[in-house]
Amino acid sequence: MKYHIAVVPGDGIGPEVAAQAQRVLCAVGDIFGHEFMCVPCPAGGAAIDKTGVPLPDETLQTCMKSDAVLFGAIGGPKWDALPGRLRPEQAILGLRSAMALFANLRPARIFPQLSAACPLKDSIIQGGLDILIVRELTGGIYFGDRGRSEDTANGKFAWDTEKYSWAEIERILKIGFQSAQKRRGRLCLVDKANVLESSRLWREVAESLRGCYPGVELSPMYVDNAAMQLVRNPGQFDVIVTSNLFGDILSDEASQITGSIGMLASASLGESGKPGLYEPIHGSAPDIAGTGKANPLAAILSSAMLLRYSLNLIGPADAVECAVEAALDAGWRTADIAGMDSTALKAAGKLIGTKKMGDEVLRHLKKN
Ligand code: IPM
Ligand code: MG
Repeated sequence: MKYHIAVVPGDGIGPEVAAQAQRVLCAVGDIFGHEFMCVPCPAGGAAIDKTGVPLPDETLQTCMKSDAVLFGAIGGPKWDALPGRLRPEQAILGLRSAMALFANLRPARIFPQLSAACPLKDSIIQGGLDILIVRELTGGIYFGDRGRSEDTANGKFAWDTEKYSWAEIERILKIGFQSAQKRRGRLCLVDKANVLESSRLWREVAESLRGCYPGVELSPMYVDNAAMQLVRNPGQFDVIVTSNLFGDILSDEASQITGSIGMLASASLGESGKPGLYEPIHGSAPDIAGTGKANPLAAILSSAMLLRYSLNLIGPADAVECAVEAALDAGWRTADIAGMDSTALKAAGKLIGTKKMGDEVLRHLKKN
């Protein structure tokens, strides 16, 4: 089969990691007899420099017409002074909104090969860590009414609004319940229902759905407590479902527990049959951009999610994930996952950069 993949490399390390993910995608296609037609699309700072806007219409159209979108990362200090609606981040927010990608799946698990990179004590992670964060992605404070004003009583002021409708909450909670059904049957709804009215609506909707998923144990938790529990006893979590902002924050925290944000992939999905968007959860890391040091594994694992969720190509998705594990088994490490061993790794020639990690994943790709 032939598939159209829109590739949005973006800024900073985005193009470097997306290039490796694209290589892996094409190679696994060759092995399994599929063709991936990759169309590069500018977005973010790269598009601002070229066209003056972060999300050119042509990029949006190409993404909407594709079978799936592979996204790198966007943003950087060069564009930080621009007004909100012209910032590079508007590219990803615009894509999520226009493509109605309301469900963001962010799996966080510890690769056994990288357990040394986990910053928590062994006694805390002995039960392992395998969490799926289901983050609402097209609503809440990210897209609510916002503004700035000024008056004599307050001087300058600004506001952002957290607003969720029953329908928006219901569709993401259903994804949460269904994900828990397919995993270990535990769903934790993370909110701030002791303070926020919107959170209280989330709880009401969750209660109304609970009966439809008898195999799933639903437990609500306040977000401040969840942030603490993630480092105190992360093994208690199976699926976490939460709002856009809380999901953004907790997924970065969870990624660090796994050892490196450089390992975490994500899928952003809309209605079934519509294209999904796949991106590493890390940012554009301007500090290491161009040095060839970035870890491409989160982007490569995102391409595996693309194969699995958008194209239903399970064999190729498994093959990519196995190849990543095999490269780790063989001892290859980028700097972010080197842990305390970087001197020894360097001496052994196992401390490698972006392209070489891509090479190693390619070398281990095979039909199982
Ligand atoms: C993420 C990022 C984005 C977000 C930024 C780049 C707008 O942090 O995907 O987690 O906040 O959603
Ligand atoms: Mg984030």
